[in-house]
Amino acid sequence: MYVEHVKKVQVVSMNKKHTQHSGCLDPDQWASRRKSISRSLLKWYHSTARDLPWRRSPDPYRVWVSEIMLQQTQVERVKDYFLRFVTKFPTVFDLAGADEAVVLKYWEGLGYYRRARQLHAAAKLIVSDYKGIFPQDACALRQLPGVGRYTAGAIASISFDLPEPILEANSRRVLARFIHYDTPLSGNKDDQPLWDVAAAIVPRDGGAGAFNQALMDLGSIICTPVSPCCEECPLADRCEAYQLGSVDKIPNVPARKSSKKIKEKAYVFILKGKLLVVRRQPGEWWEGLWDFPRGIPNQLAARGPQRHLGTIDYSVTNHKVTCQILSTLVSQRPAARRHQRWLSPQEIQRLPMTSPGRRIVALAKKTLL
Ligand code: ADE
Repeated sequence: MYVEHVKKVQVVSMNKKHTQHSGCLDPDQWASRRKSISRSLLKWYHSTARDLPWRRSPDPYRVWVSEIMLQQTQVERVKDYFLRFVTKFPTVFDLAGADEAVVLKYWEGLGYYRRARQLHAAAKLIVSDYKGIFPQDACALRQLPGVGRYTAGAIASISFDLPEPILEANSRRVLARFIHYDTPLSGNKDDQPLWDVAAAIVPRDGGAGAFNQALMDLGSIICTPVSPCCEECPLADRCEAYQLGSVDKIPNVPARKSSKKIKEKAYVFILKGKLLVVRRQPGEWWEGLWDFPRGIPNQLAARGPQRHLGTIDYSVTNHKVTCQILSTLVSQRPAARRHQRWLSPQEIQRLPMTSPGRRIVALAKKTLL
């Protein structure tokens, strides 16, 4: 039946800019395919599932924390952060009651710190508006800061076994190949047909959470971006890209915009073994984290000879930054300013700090202190 369908697709495609795909099937047609897809996928999953720390309990708090961490970060990197985070904040009440600086400290190095601030804000909301009990439907979950369609679907399906779809990088690739979706995926709205398929195939009678996680694992282990192992794929006999021999052309993801190169200077002001650090403000990269001054603070300018400590390169958003590090010994403490502190390297260690900031501390310790 599937191969017949694929043949039909090929014929139609000759007169079309992009190939027809079975995302266009009507809901009844999907209903008949749903059971067979989930049977094959779940059989594969039960023998292959990755042992990931957040999978050991369906507790919505743990699922939520893990999904927020996984939004822009690789699974391998998230594992240790997740365990440290849920050990420090075992419940939504612990997270809601924590200082933002402590939450950021436990996020330090994971990047995209807005996720941590939103997680914290959402924890407060769950405690104040829901008495600490997670809402059990995707619409209510989506009202929480930082929870979009994907995260709401993941919590609803994994924790509450609701038949909600998910679409993230791995399952997006699986489904795009599965239905031979070769439209360029430039913006969010281009994903809509894939969301429709994800919603059409998610099981209605239990197992939605396992099914969604199986799709992600399939994308991560078998249906990889380059050199997928189609021979081992439980869905190969129904995968339209595989049947048409065009797996390597799908998904059709336009090349990323090239990053912007910028140069900047960071300043290490030193007063009796203490360094001046500043907290990044709203609207700046790394809001809420501590760092070294990047423009010259007026009162400190030209206080003494500057020494060049070195240069560091780093990437942030789509910028590639080359940062020159300059140090100056100052002899008098200038008037205190908000969001600035003079601290020893040991004291700085306890603050949540940007990753370039950490590298600057290491450089300063090595060359100056
Ligand atoms: N990526 C995003 N969420 C995931 C999950 N729950 N398991 C594995 N990979 C993921």
